[in-house]
Amino acid sequence: MNLMRSTRTFALLVFMLLVTSLNPGVWAQAPLFTSAIASAPHQAPGAAEPWWKHALIYEIYPRSFQDSNGDGVGDLKGITQRLDYLQTLGVDAIWLSPIYPSPQVDFGYDISDYENVDPQYGTLADFDELVAEAKKHNIRIIMDMVMNHTSDKHPWFIESKSSRTNPKRDWYVWRDGKGPGIPPNNWQSEFGHSAWQFDPTTNQWYYHKFYIQQPDLNWRNPAVEKAMFDAVRFWLDRGVAGFRLDAIPTLFEDPQLRDAKETSGTNAYGDPNLDNTYTDNLPEVHDVMRRLRTVVASYPGDRVLIGETYLPNIQELDKWYGGASHNELNLPMDMQIGFTNKLDAGLFRERIEDVETKVHGNQPLVVFDNHDNARSWNRYGDGVHDAAIARVVATMLFTTRATAMMYYGEEIGMVTTTPSRKEDVKDPIGIIGWPKEKGRDGERTPMQWDTSLNAGFSTAATTWLPVAPDYKTVNVEVEGREPSSLLNWYKKLIELRRTDPALRDGALTMLDSTNPNVLSYLRKGPAGAASVVVSLNFTAQPQTVSLDLAAAGVTANNVKTLMTDDSSLQSATSLTHIVLPPFASWVASVQ
Ligand code: GLC
Repeated sequence: MNLMRSTRTFALLVFMLLVTSLNPGVWAQAPLFTSAIASAPHQAPGAAEPWWKHALIYEIYPRSFQDSNGDGVGDLKGITQRLDYLQTLGVDAIWLSPIYPSPQVDFGYDISDYENVDPQYGTLADFDELVAEAKKHNIRIIMDMVMNHTSDKHPWFIESKSSRTNPKRDWYVWRDGKGPGIPPNNWQSEFGHSAWQFDPTTNQWYYHKFYIQQPDLNWRNPAVEKAMFDAVRFWLDRGVAGFRLDAIPTLFEDPQLRDAKETSGTNAYGDPNLDNTYTDNLPEVHDVMRRLRTVVASYPGDRVLIGETYLPNIQELDKWYGGASHNELNLPMDMQIGFTNKLDAGLFRERIEDVETKVHGNQPLVVFDNHDNARSWNRYGDGVHDAAIARVVATMLFTTRATAMMYYGEEIGMVTTTPSRKEDVKDPIGIIGWPKEKGRDGERTPMQWDTSLNAGFSTAATTWLPVAPDYKTVNVEVEGREPSSLLNWYKKLIELRRTDPALRDGALTMLDSTNPNVLSYLRKGPAGAASVVVSLNFTAQPQTVSLDLAAAGVTANNVKTLMTDDSSLQSATSLTHIVLPPFASWVASVQ
């Protein structure tokens, strides 16, 4: 070991001892210093597996989970009150959508202070309490980090806007227009219309990929990176387990600001569709990710970097892991699987195989639901077999090798409840784009806990969004009592994945690979232990399958159903001529 490196390692150790002793919130799971000493950005061979590899990460939209003070808006204390439930469900980590101070134009994704808590949600003390109480429940807290833009009310932007010569001018993307009233180019906001906003004080335009109130930071300025990494350290020092990086592919824009090419048609806002080559996924973002990984990896406890990575294909996803170097994000979300948006067995087979084989052995992260998309119940449901289809979706989520991510209410089958009148819409895109784009309120309605007032979410006379009308039957309390409920299906799956060695770690091999109607795969158990087969009928007709495990080197003398929603499959003892009723799920152990 060279002297320089050992001195640095020692300094790091002393620093971390200090941080840990000063801050009881730091997650001090043994082995405390292993990852710090190595400070390697990726798993050393033979090292213990990081906690997130087999985790269930549960997204909470804080406004909608639990209101503790009766103002109709969820808060941190509310989340703390519900930790017992989350532990019973089998949650390993909570991804908290933004809780920072914010004017709430984009409900927290417009941040005006990266190092505090919005009073609507509580205080930093409430946050520390949540981290500490969650730890007692073996649950970690993951923050949402919005690096692409700030709120226009952030002091950085207020300064930047004040004059062309302000030291923070270059923290944002300012340009002259092409002429009076003409923006610098044709780029459009993700949320409708021009991505440029004119500022009369300085006679220039600023770029905003999202709302006008969300000016983009200029990541070509090193001071921006430094400030943002300081915010990251602030939360790591408080004991958070990692970050979900918001809209991360949009950090950089083409420095020449070239006009985007028009593709065909118009979007929901009536604007022409544009090719996003000059605004999304620029290669420079990967340098930032590598540096961020180094910062995060210098902390103990396998802190995790998760990416909101909507990408066109698996090759692009692989880049976000750092490919063979494994030195960027630990878990960029694989949106190609969860947002396939049609139950097509062939498509799922292809996409699951892609992430198994084309990302250099990195760990997949699968997600079906979040706060930006109609709930999977509605995206995959056919209106007739919705409950069975929801079980198929859940089974895929927990029986491939992927780390699982879910969204509050998914486990009880909450549905999208889109406002029917424009005047009721809260999400601004629903106002800008009405009636084609009705916004994201529908997937953000309050969590349905029980049959009491406001489904047990709040004691307020009105809640920030209305509780969905089905709450008397679709709720945690009622479903907890029904053995065949979706909630109990989720609980069983989560428990099975936790306890079954094949489901936890086993290699995945597709079975019956040309079947267009049924998705079947094997998870191979460790030597001498059972393997698991999964068969999911993706159609409204009964399907018969025979599964041959020989190519995977598994013999199936003993077949035993572990989980199914069909009573006849309960007693299946063979892998030939298995009859799967419409949208049936079957999970069996084979040995
Ligand atoms: C991400 C968030 C979304 C937000 C946008 C802008 O896509 O998930 O809710 O509106 O970024 O921050």
